[in-house]
This record gives sequence, structure tokens and C-alpha cells, in this order.
Amino acid sequence: MGMKLLVCGGAGFIGSTYARQRVLEHGDEVTVLDKLTYAGREENLREVAEHPSFRFMRGAIEDPAAVSAAIAGGSPEAIVNFAAETHVDRSISEPDAFVATHALGTYVLLEAAREHGLRYLQVSTDEVYGSIEQGTFTEDSPLRPSSPYSATKAGADLLVQAYVHTYGLPALICRGSNNYGPYQYPEKLIPLMILNALHGDSLPVYGDGMQVRNWIHCSDFARAIAHVLERGVPGEVYNAGGPDEQPNIEVVRRIVALTGASDAQIEHVTDRPGHDRRYSLSSQKVRALGWSPQVRFDDGLERTVAWYRENSWWWEPIRSGEYRAYYERQYGRALS
Ligand code: NAD
Ligand code: DAU
Repeated sequence: MGMKLLVCGGAGFIGSTYARQRVLEHGDEVTVLDKLTYAGREENLREVAEHPSFRFMRGAIEDPAAVSAAIAGGSPEAIVNFAAETHVDRSISEPDAFVATHALGTYVLLEAAREHGLRYLQVSTDEVYGSIEQGTFTEDSPLRPSSPYSATKAGADLLVQAYVHTYGLPALICRGSNNYGPYQYPEKLIPLMILNALHGDSLPVYGDGMQVRNWIHCSDFARAIAHVLERGVPGEVYNAGGPDEQPNIEVVRRIVALTGASDAQIEHVTDRPGHDRRYSLSSQKVRALGWSPQVRFDDGLERTVAWYRENSWWWEPIRSGEYRAYYERQYGRALS
């Protein structure tokens, strides 16, 4: 018998990966609660939409009535919270929703978990530790977030830990490094560069492009979250980092090669304000629970490029919608 789960933010990139894995590969019963912001799309869940063990409910995590209805509908044993505003550049230009969703939303879910006696897992990020020039962050590293995105995610993590400490809530935190893979909204580096490369648009690299990210395939991060929920010690934090670190410019060059685009499309543009130089995570603690990443970056990137090539039905409506206006605001130019 599988578990009954309430997956908040399950219509997004990683949440939908996790929902598909749990329903299709592990026989879990999943209720997704998602506000369907610009980043949340029911299309991401089309492979499970008609499955008898799957239910979708539209609603915001900061709305106690929506959360109560989702719990009444799905009778879950655990809440897994992916719901978030996730793009650092948007947090710099429009921070409001980051504060509302991460602070108030996490609080409403924690209260619901407490009231109904549910296990709780908060999906978090390596960005809460800030930037590290050398070495790797462990779960004991201090929290030094740099952006409104990472500061509000760190605030949510601290609230989760307060509920563990004060009320004995059986809550866990899993902090991931940079994810990539299918269904990622093209505001993020890898899908943005793939689609721009395929369309002959310029490839906007922030600053010198020597910032380093620790890439993890979304299928590996989703499995790490499942490991932590099932085998982790309540109250603990677990980092889940990918197997490969890459400077951004190297990632962009590989995308140019894989798409058959031209190096001449690469353009160095004004850097992101407060840009973190490098992230790197030690994952020893979650590895001790039996998890390890399966997808190497070279292979995962090639498969991701192939997915975007083959699934224009997914990105065409995005590229012709709200995204165009966002792109013009962010990059000061139009897409082709
Ligand atoms: P995403 O932007 O693709 O999806 C976020 C989802 O949350 C969307 O479906 C959106 O509609 C939903 N949502 C937003 N606000 C909501 C609200 N108030 N109530 C209900 N639903 C809401 O994000 P993602 O990349 O899949 O990230 C998922 C989680 O993983 C986030 O918590 C993020 O901080 C964390 N994370 C992401 C990465 C990464 O590289 N993408 C790495 C580590 C951790
Ligand atoms: O580290 C985990 C985090 O990874 C997650 O918590 C966030 O939700 C997720 O968005 C991601 O944050 P980053 O800021 O690292 O990801 P992004 O894809 O925005 O950028 C990756 C790197 O590429 C970063 O150094 C900025 C750079 N970049 C990004 C964009 C969109 C560019 O050079 N040009 C661009 O146009």
C-alpha cells in the first residue's frame, strides 16, 4: 500500500515530477493543491490527471479554507510543500508574492499539519546558505541568504524548525541544488537558453558567466525528497545536491553545441544584482539514507534538449503569453 500525500505546488516543475513518480511508480495516492500562478500548469500533470489515485485542487497555501478542503478531500498522512515563487530575478523586481507564499503560506500549512497530526516536508534550496567560493555547504552551515527569494525561503525553513522545536511537529526539510529537466519554465537558465538557441535569439549570460551551479536532474531531486519523507529523522535537514558543478558559460556553450546554434548568439549582459557566485552542497546525510543521484549532467542535458525539441506543444503557449512581457521587462528586448 502506498502513502496518501498532499503535494502543494504540484503543478510546477519539480512538484509535477514528484507527483508523477509517486503515482505512476510507487502507487501513492496524491492530492495536488496548487494556485496555478504563471509557473503552475495543469499540462505538467497530464500523465496522471485521469489516474484514480490522483486528484487536483486549485487553491493557495496561504488560504486556510483551501488547505482544509484539500486535507478533507485527500485524507493525507503527510504534506509535501513545493509551493513557492521560485525565480530569483522576479524576487528582485517584484518581491511581494515571495513574502506572502513563503512566510504566510508555510505558516498555514504548518498549522494544518499540527491540527491534523500530519508529517510535513518542506522543499527548500541551497540558496538559503548564500554563496560559497570554495568547499561545500553542510546542513550545519549558517543561513546567509542573499536575495528576496532565498531570504523568504530561509524564513520558511526557520518557521518549520520552530514548529519542530515548539510543538514537536514531525517536520523535515530537504534542500536541493539547481534542478533541470523537462517541464521547467523557460525563465530559468537552461530552458531559456535552449529555447533561445533553437529560435536564433541571443543567449543573455549575466556578467562574466563564471558563476558556478551544482546541477541536479529533477528526477533525482524528487527521489531524494521521497527518501527524506520516508526514511529521514523528523526535525532534521537533508541537503540533496547534484553530481556535477558547471560555470554558466560552459552550460551555455554545451547548449549551443547540442542545438546546432552559433557561439555568436552568446551575449554578456548586465549582471544580476547581488548575484551569488557559487553554490555547492554536501549530500552525505541523504546518501546515508540510501539515495544517490543517477543522472550525470552531460547525459541529462542532452535528454533535456531533446525533450524541448520534441515538446513544442508545451512551450509554445508559454512563449507567446505572459512570458513575452516578462522577457521584455527583464532583458529590455523582445523575443523573436
Ligand atoms: P515552479 O516555479 O516550477 O513551481 C512552483 C509551483 O508552486 C507552481 O505550480 C505554482 O503555481 C505553485 N504556487 C506558487 N505559489 C503558490 C501558492 N501561494 N499556493 C499554492 N501554489 C503555489 O518551481 P520549482 O522549480 O518546481 O520549485 C519547487 C520547489 O523546489 C520550490 O519550493 C523551490 O524553492 C524548490 N527548489 C527549486 C529548485 C530549482 O532549481 N528549481 C532547487 C531547489 C529547491
Ligand atoms: O540553487 C537552487 C535554486 O536554483 C532554486 O532554489 C531556484 O528556485 C532556482 O531558480 C535556481 O536559482 P538560480 O538563480 O541559480 O537559477 P537561474 O536559472 O535563474 O540562474 C542560474 C544561473 O544562470 C545563475 O548564475 C544566473 C545565470 N543566468 C540566469 C538567467 C535566467 C544567466 O546568466 N542568464 C539568464 O538569463
